[in-house]
Amino acid sequence: MKTLNIIGAGRLGKTLGRLWQQAGFFQIQSIHNRTIDSAHAAVEFIGAGQAASSIESMNDANCWLISCSDGEIETAAEQLSSNFQQREGAIAFHCSGALSSKVLKTLHPTSIASAHPVHSFADPQRSIDSLGGSSVALEGDSLAVLTLTEAFASIGCRTLAISAEHKSLYHAGSVIACNYLTTLIDLSLQSFAAAGINHDKALRLLEPIVLQTVKNNMTLGPEASLTGPIARGDLETVATQAKSLTSADPHLAHHYRQLGLACVKLARRGQLSDETAAKLIELLSEPMR
Ligand SMILES: NC(=O)c1ccc[n+]([C@@H]2O[C@H](COP(=O)([O-])OP(=O)(O)OC[C@H]3O[C@@H](n4cnc5c(N)ncnc54)[C@H](OP(=O)(O)O)[C@@H]3O)[C@@H](O)[C@H]2O)c1
Repeated sequence: MKTLNIIGAGRLGKTLGRLWQQAGFFQIQSIHNRTIDSAHAAVEFIGAGQAASSIESMNDANCWLISCSDGEIETAAEQLSSNFQQREGAIAFHCSGALSSKVLKTLHPTSIASAHPVHSFADPQRSIDSLGGSSVALEGDSLAVLTLTEAFASIGCRTLAISAEHKSLYHAGSVIACNYLTTLIDLSLQSFAAAGINHDKALRLLEPIVLQTVKNNMTLGPEASLTGPIARGDLETVATQAKSLTSADPHLAHHYRQLGLACVKLARRGQLSDETAAKLIELLSEPMR
């Protein structure tokens, strides 16, 4: 079995370490975190490995996962390259969505890769059960890509090939869908609050319709899923909503107009006529008074 060392076994590193150990794909060996207490806690969670107080005190391994925070990855790779002889046949990878494998280039001739699981590792205990079925965007040197394709398959994940030059655009795609969806829900809650509907009631009201909307999008796609006043070309309702939001909170009105313009573009790919689209664009482009 291949050995795996982890530098930065936090939420993601602990989850992957435990799953790979349980699947028998990697034998988890040395774990180094910022603090030794945290490394001990990671060893306990994974159920294997040994805590190391520094990179130089880690045992050498076939594979290295550098899963500290994004800003620390390059420095950790440099420390690794100055403490361990790099060799062909070994692999090193990180799991950042924002960075490509190039950030590890100091480790060549070790085969390097980036492998970004499209999953939210908020709670490792939950991720243990829910990671399977997720996709992992993978790019880098061929040996690392091949090994990681097998490694992720062993824990029920499918890999998606991506080029280093498209990594940032790829990551923006998941940021828009996931982080912006959260921000949209917050904007929606602010609008409900302005209407006197409290946070809990608003969340209960939103839950079924938001979940249904997400399901519709996943099965039908955005064009067929778009409903509401803009898709219907209901100029009067859009004008009234924009006006009400402007009186309640100009910032909310600003976001409503900006997102409304993107919504008009989407609706144009459906039933919305050119003429009504032009009127909606005019209405949403003007600051409301
Ligand atoms: N969380 C997610 O949902 C998610 C999803 C996809 C990809 N990722 C990627 O996965 C990576 C890790 O994210 P995470 O959320 O697991 O982070 P995290 O929970 O904050 O864990 C980071 C770990 O790195 C350790 N660390 C920080 N600086 C270090 C250093 N200089 N040397 C050694 N260890 C160091 C920390 O040690 P201490 O515990 O001692 O502070 C901690 O255990 C990032 O590249 C991130 O972009 C995360």
